[in-house]
Amino acid sequence: MTVLRILTIPDPRLKHKSIEVENFDLDLQEIVKNMYDTLYASGNGIGLAAPQVGIKKRIIVIDLKVDGKSDPITFINPEVIKFSEEKFINEEGCLSVPEYYAEVERSKEVEVKWFDENGKRKKKIIKGLLSICIQHEIDHLNGTLFIDHLSKLKRKLVFEKLKKIKKKNERQSKN
Ligand code: NI
Repeated sequence: MTVLRILTIPDPRLKHKSIEVENFDLDLQEIVKNMYDTLYASGNGIGLAAPQVGIKKRIIVIDLKVDGKSDPITFINPEVIKFSEEKFINEEGCLSVPEYYAEVERSKEVEVKWFDENGKRKKKIIKGLLSICIQHEIDHLNGTLFIDHLSKLKRKLVFEKLKKIKKKNERQSKN
């Protein structure tokens, strides 16, 4: 089992645009496996994008654990081909933005095409929690965080709060 380190804001690598996967080889299988290990080790995460662990590739792993049962879905080179006009607002969090949750508006449904880890083409209309999650994770591949959807003022507060948490953790580790 390999648990990778999850980058947190303000790490500049979270702002990079990731590149498409070209080879569906053993290296890819290994990255996907390590990403699931990291996601499950996080305890409360439901999705992880490769740039969050410093890998600049268009790879996403999601497990919504439907009815408490593991339900992993791997998205390679995902692309939204249609956003519904109907929107909804939900509270989101992110492993790269610790201890912060905020309401974000997104399309209620998205039609997504992607490849699975074996290179098989997939296409589906996605709704509900998975719709929020895949839009949030695809944003990561483009260097966008959920806090980038908030107002400038709110975003400033997030960074201030995070600084305080970091200071508190440093103090605790000294004691
Ligand atoms: Ni996130």
